Amino acid sequence: MADADAIKEARNYYLDIPQQSEPPNLKGCNSLGWGMKNRLYNIFRPETGRTVMLAVDHGYFMGPTTGLERIDVTIVPLLKYADTLMCTRGVVRSMVPPGFNKGVVLRASGGPSILKELSDEEIAVDMEDAIRLNVSAVAVQVFIGGEYETRSIHNLTRLVDIGNRYGMPVLGVTAVGKDMARDAKYFRLATRICAELGATYVKTYYVDDGFETVTSSCPVPIVMAGGKKIPVIDAMTMAYNAVQQGASGVDMGRNIFQADDPAAMIQTVSRIVHENMKPAEALDHYETLKRETR
Ligand code: R5P
Repeated sequence: MADADAIKEARNYYLDIPQQSEPPNLKGCNSLGWGMKNRLYNIFRPETGRTVMLAVDHGYFMGPTTGLERIDVTIVPLLKYADTLMCTRGVVRSMVPPGFNKGVVLRASGGPSILKELSDEEIAVDMEDAIRLNVSAVAVQVFIGGEYETRSIHNLTRLVDIGNRYGMPVLGVTAVGKDMARDAKYFRLATRICAELGATYVKTYYVDDGFETVTSSCPVPIVMAGGKKIPVIDAMTMAYNAVQQGASGVDMGRNIFQADDPAAMIQTVSRIVHENMKPAEALDHYETLKRETR
């Protein structure tokens, strides 16, 4: 027990220093509770309000896709460069070292494989298990315009309700059907619906024309999904443009783990996201890192 006698009188009230507020760099998140904000800042760097999420959850419907055949061999060495890992609970338990102390965003919806109708998803993780795994957010796919649109929205809202109870952020992932137009009009609709229905933040694809209207009309942070593998300079340019146009970072998978040097790629994407490194300089940086590790 602390001694109760000879107590020094308190006198350092720092009257000239206003109490600091948290960094106001996560839009639409000011009214969230402390626990939820703390989890969000395991995903988004407090200094920049941005994140590089390494997405490796593809196996939940695609099986062992290229680059993810052996997550322990190819992905675990990249973890030190990511701000956050997005994956399934099966991968967390079996292959992610428990010493990994950055955010994990847990894939929490699933059901159909690539052989079936992809929008036919259900919630695939109990919130209690997400908490047991100490994750920083759960992610749910939302299929606006898809065959099972309403069910996917209910998956989102149910996770939001349970997430609010426990301080768990919910990432709404906009999933686009094969035959749908991937344009700003669609993504404004899809991201806004996710945000209005309670998603803490939203993942969506980049579009060349009007992406800034997508970020502007979505009242919560947006992270850009990488999409299929494209040339490295194009992926770097896309990441650069996305953050310049209001994205709070990227959730990138194939353009990192299918790059010819994934470690160099994720380090370069991190500099683009957090330091606004321009694409031409980023490509030089990538080539330099590649040479250094040969
Ligand atoms: C889709 O399977 C997942 O939501 C991925 O996490 C997302 O598509 C990001 O990965 P990629 O950059 O490979 O598209």
